[in-house]
Amino acid sequence: MKTLNGLLLAVVMTAAPAFQTIAAENSKDVYISIDSDALKFSQKTFKSRVQEISTQDGISILKIDEDALPWLSMLMHKNFNRCGGFMVHDDEADAMNLLHSQDGAQLFAKNNTFADYTINQEELVKPMVEQVKAENILANITKLSSFKNRYYKGEFGKQSAAYIKEMWSAIVKNRTDATVEYFPHSQWDQPSIILTLKGKSDDVIVLGGHQDSINGSFGGSSATAPGADDNASGISTITEVVRILTDNSYQPQKTIKFMAYAAEEVGLLGSKEISKSFKAANVNVIGVMQLDMTNFQGTKDLDIVMMTDYTNVQQNNFVGSIIDKYVPGIKWGFDKCGYGCSDHASWNAQGYPASMPFEAKMDDMNHNIHTAKDTLSVSGGNASHAAKFAKMALAYIVELDR
Ligand code: BES
Ligand code: ZN
Repeated sequence: MKTLNGLLLAVVMTAAPAFQTIAAENSKDVYISIDSDALKFSQKTFKSRVQEISTQDGISILKIDEDALPWLSMLMHKNFNRCGGFMVHDDEADAMNLLHSQDGAQLFAKNNTFADYTINQEELVKPMVEQVKAENILANITKLSSFKNRYYKGEFGKQSAAYIKEMWSAIVKNRTDATVEYFPHSQWDQPSIILTLKGKSDDVIVLGGHQDSINGSFGGSSATAPGADDNASGISTITEVVRILTDNSYQPQKTIKFMAYAAEEVGLLGSKEISKSFKAANVNVIGVMQLDMTNFQGTKDLDIVMMTDYTNVQQNNFVGSIIDKYVPGIKWGFDKCGYGCSDHASWNAQGYPASMPFEAKMDDMNHNIHTAKDTLSVSGGNASHAAKFAKMALAYIVELDR
């Protein structure tokens, strides 16, 4: 049984207000926008933990205990049998903005109607998930962590970017629907890399992770920063997904984009530029998954930890269901970074639904990151943890795609 899901069942089967006894006492309030028809339900379930701020045109702004969000999402899913739920806002002003701007209302509608979170592609997904090979991921982490660093400035970071571009190009070389391109950045040398599998529709699904590494104490372009876990693991996990989709001649319905972001370690800079450019071009990104650190199992009884901040609650829920169905025997739970800790936050800031499934709880994180010691040996010299993430990401893409 999963950590939170197991508890959830108990809540649903007994009475909803059981939540009152589960929530932490001193958690912080956040602002959400929610369809007004779910307002009463939220108030009944969460009592004093939720407060109606304003309602207009079928959308309500609520102030709610942050720890209630995963619960609200799952309860909405079960009781309303729908995925359309709510958006989380940074503050009250941001939430009210949504009420008062047409744009916001549209964005809300968009986020809540375009993604179909039904899971019904077992025939396609299952055989592909079985093809995930930890050895492939291992080989790639080994190669990527052999660069002295992958710093966003300097020669090594440029070389490692070129390597990723070549490697991805080689995998998709026989596909007529694929392109692998640099996304150049004007302020530094390391480009981001975008691999596109063009589908029938222009709706976009993004699977991404940052390619750069950093040595936190001896920053700079000549420091040793293997970044095996942070984040050669994520890029190598993504690469295994591309390999399997291609080996199986998978023809996407929607357009799937795999991204290796530059300059994450210095403020999410690469993903910030990319997500802004997508928003400016009105690209309908229906889902973003961020893979940043996938190969260190820091928490003994947990495999995948869904970060709840700067992410989309509905999509997180969907990813949880994906894990239950396609990565059996895996335990997953929730935690939060407490700040915009990786590129999912860039997409989230542009209003796109993003998720960040992480390798461990924050308390059990890999303390070797951002040092010369972030090597494969810290993860036991194998990639069995990352393989779970590849299975999840593969299933996520195919299920969201059709
Ligand atoms: N991979 C880390 C984020 C991370 C570290 C998440 C530990 C969870 C546990 C990422 O590459 C990173 O270092 N991010 C920066 C923030 C960024 C805005 C510069 C960080 O966490 O300091
Ligand atoms: Zn990272």
